[in-house]
Amino acid sequence: MSSIRKAFVTGYPIAHSRSPVIHNYWLRYYDLKGSYERIGVAPEDFTAFIAGLKDNGFVGGNVTMPHKDAAFAAAAVTTERAKQLHAVNTLWFEDGVLHGDNTDILGFTGCIEQTLGRHWYQGVETALVIGAGGAARAVVTGLLGYPGLKVKIINRTTDKADDMTAFDRNRIETASWDNLDAEVAKAGVIVNTTSLGMTGYPPLVLDFSRCSKDTIVADIVYVPLMTPLLSAAQEHSLRIVDGLGMLLHQAVPGFARWFGVTPEVTPELREAVLQDLRERG
Ligand code: ATR
Repeated sequence: MSSIRKAFVTGYPIAHSRSPVIHNYWLRYYDLKGSYERIGVAPEDFTAFIAGLKDNGFVGGNVTMPHKDAAFAAAAVTTERAKQLHAVNTLWFEDGVLHGDNTDILGFTGCIEQTLGRHWYQGVETALVIGAGGAARAVVTGLLGYPGLKVKIINRTTDKADDMTAFDRNRIETASWDNLDAEVAKAGVIVNTTSLGMTGYPPLVLDFSRCSKDTIVADIVYVPLMTPLLSAAQEHSLRIVDGLGMLLHQAVPGFARWFGVTPEVTPELREAVLQDLRERG
């Protein structure tokens, strides 16, 4: 094997991915010999791409939409977290065998803990998760890791939210989209996992007027960084957690596996990604 450790991010499309900015920043910062490249792979070519990884000298990589399910199927060994979500976003070889993990859960918990402290959930009774897609599954799984926290899920398509109660029927309930504002008033933490608020999408508009001042509002959308939802929360003096932290923190375990150093999420890294967002949109 060459002394340069090669990693990748693949998706379709992939041009928008900021993962190369993050990993190349860390490669430079820790002065490591390695590379991390963006590779667009169409769904019909994904199996062949995975089959060729070893011959192409890759030690592993990240997988994003729409390949997370296919990556779960392709990995010979997967972590419990990946099994729970049925999705893999991080691949690596161990003794020549392809392993898969899902680091989106750690992305969410790492980000909220770095922003608000490790004990942020103390005093919080109910977390309201809006949305029931792949990102919601990671967020809900992360929230269930905090003892005592109850989770309420609201999704435009109620059936998808109902399916997610199987994660833990004692701690998860669902409510209808029509009751959104009543649930917002009761929640200690509110997490938007839908695409609403992203550039090109309509905003997610919630009524924060009846929320307690301790309420935390988190958004997984990071383009723009200050979504209309977070701006409104800030106007009501609520605590906010933006979506960029989740992206930065989900990258940590992969980098550690491929390049042997557990990297830190620092304000300088955040600034490097923000700079790229400003330049490339
Ligand atoms: P991801 O894997 O990024 O979570 P996804 O699986 O496509 O993406 O999920 C997108 C989420 O955004 C879903 O919860 C979706 O609601 P539906 O299940 O009803 O489709 C939600 N979403 C997208 N556009 C929406 C809109 N205009 N109003 C409300 N919810 C929306």
